[in-house]
Amino acid sequence: QNKVGLVGWRGMVGSVLMQRMQEESDFSLIEPTFFTTSQTGSAAPDFAGKDCGLLQDAFDIEALGTQDIIITCQGGDYTKDVYPKLREAGWNGYWIDAASALRMKDDAVIVLDPVNRAEIDKGIASGVKTYVGGNCTVSLMLMALGGLFEKDLVEWATPMTYQAASGSGAKHMRELLTQMGAVYGNVKDMVDDPSTAILDIDRQVAEYIRSDDYPKEQFGVPLAGSLIPYIDTQLPSGQSREEWKAEAEANKILGTTEAPVPVDGICVRVGAMRCHSQAITLKLKKDLPVSEIEAILAEHNDWVKVIPNDRDVTMAELTPAKVTGTLSIPVGRIRKLTMGPEYISAFTVGDQLLWGAAEPLRRMLRIILG
Ligand code: HSE
Repeated sequence: QNKVGLVGWRGMVGSVLMQRMQEESDFSLIEPTFFTTSQTGSAAPDFAGKDCGLLQDAFDIEALGTQDIIITCQGGDYTKDVYPKLREAGWNGYWIDAASALRMKDDAVIVLDPVNRAEIDKGIASGVKTYVGGNCTVSLMLMALGGLFEKDLVEWATPMTYQAASGSGAKHMRELLTQMGAVYGNVKDMVDDPSTAILDIDRQVAEYIRSDDYPKEQFGVPLAGSLIPYIDTQLPSGQSREEWKAEAEANKILGTTEAPVPVDGICVRVGAMRCHSQAITLKLKKDLPVSEIEAILAEHNDWVKVIPNDRDVTMAELTPAKVTGTLSIPVGRIRKLTMGPEYISAFTVGDQLLWGAAEPLRRMLRIILG
């Protein structure tokens, strides 16, 4: 059995990964060793359903070097620190990583096998040993629209995102809930009293969310009762780093870096828990009937689900509330825009911890295991 080292299994993405690996019985196919950055020597967790001994030091290059495969959800700083040392020490195993640090390196493949299995297979055949999960919005967009990209029908795409708190981390999810509760708590008496004028309630809410009393240590600004139209760092291009990733990563995943499809839009944080949504405008290379577009999308992979552009079905099926915690990738609101017959809209929702983070990693493990 392959020796598989697991790093960063306790964090949010790591925990979702462990859960998925249990559900799919991945542990029965490997000999797992759990690594830790802080608790070397403690007992390993029991996810694997077998004795995994003690936690090993995640900075111990020699111990890491005994593994055939390492999967890390520990984050970019860990990768930047440990990965080069491990490779310099001559380790030639498979490195599977959730962090973005190595994503754009020439000797790394971004993994999203329902979309780019051919790129992954090419990588394996040519000896690539580093496989990195994509940015969550990019992966979720390609899971939803993969059919159109695969058939080279997309002239350009502009995704406008509605990204959940989980993309910022576990503490941010907690803060979103704290903010929600705090807003309500601040005006509860007024809300409960039907004689209070709504504009008085609204004024008090506005004053409160702008005040120093509003809990915003993590986000720095209000999210609940507001939104944040900037994600990740600022780049000279005027894009946020999150926005820059869309075109760079999507084309790398698709293997179209030589003649990239333009993919650019604005990324926005909203008060959802763990589902990212995206409203996408596409210019197609051809005028296709909506029914044909829907058929192309629906047959691309087992998880995408075309939602008819019907009000009631959309409201029931195409929301973070419906999708959260599932692998389903609904895509709907597909219609011709008034700009012309090649311009179409689409709206998609996906769980950013599942297809957006953990799932492509465990599937890559399965591909390596063969
Ligand atoms: N960068 C993403 C976000 C999450 O902030 O929502 C991880 O890809």
